Amino acid sequence: AKLAILISGRGSNMIALAEAARDPACPFEIVRVLSNDPAAAGLAEAERRGIPIWAHSHKGLKRADYDALLDAELRAAGAEYVALAGYMRLLSPGFVAGWAGRMVNIHPSLLPAYKGLDTHNRVLAAGDAEHGCTVHLVTAELDDGPILGQARVPVLPGDDEESLAARVLAEEHRLYARCLADLVSR
Ligand code: GRF
Repeated sequence: AKLAILISGRGSNMIALAEAARDPACPFEIVRVLSNDPAAAGLAEAERRGIPIWAHSHKGLKRADYDALLDAELRAAGAEYVALAGYMRLLSPGFVAGWAGRMVNIHPSLLPAYKGLDTHNRVLAAGDAEHGCTVHLVTAELDDGPILGQARVPVLPGDDEESLAARVLAEEHRLYARCLADLVSR
């Protein structure tokens, strides 16, 4: 299956998916990496791996107009599935509807707990014993939609945001490839 990945930053989840896709047994291939931030560090990582990139700033454009550009590029790339990987923009309802059941997101919490930003600090402040990450189908609501998979990690004594985020991120990298392989094989 042809997969496109949307990023806004360093793209470590995108890199993990690119590494997974190198396995001949992997059921998805990455046809495009797209970013709303032309300076996103992950773009260079994609290029280094020979993946075609598309970068276009959202600045000055209405959300729906920007998403129409994105959609046209995804269709031109032949994408069948879209993975959000640290894509830090809300998507317009029309765009989301056009990819229903074929667009996924990874979120650094055990949804439905801790939707939105700053999840690791909120988990620490709450004193939770457990934390993790979730892969879910994207719907019009932020960090909502049917859950495809979760991975759990312990919160350990002495954890700070950095140590906790690193423990979760290692699980994200495994979980995302596994959930996408399952989805495209349905
Ligand atoms: C990840 O923690 C992801 O779950 C969240 O944003 C972060 C992106 O990291 N949505 P990266 O760009 O994939 O390294």
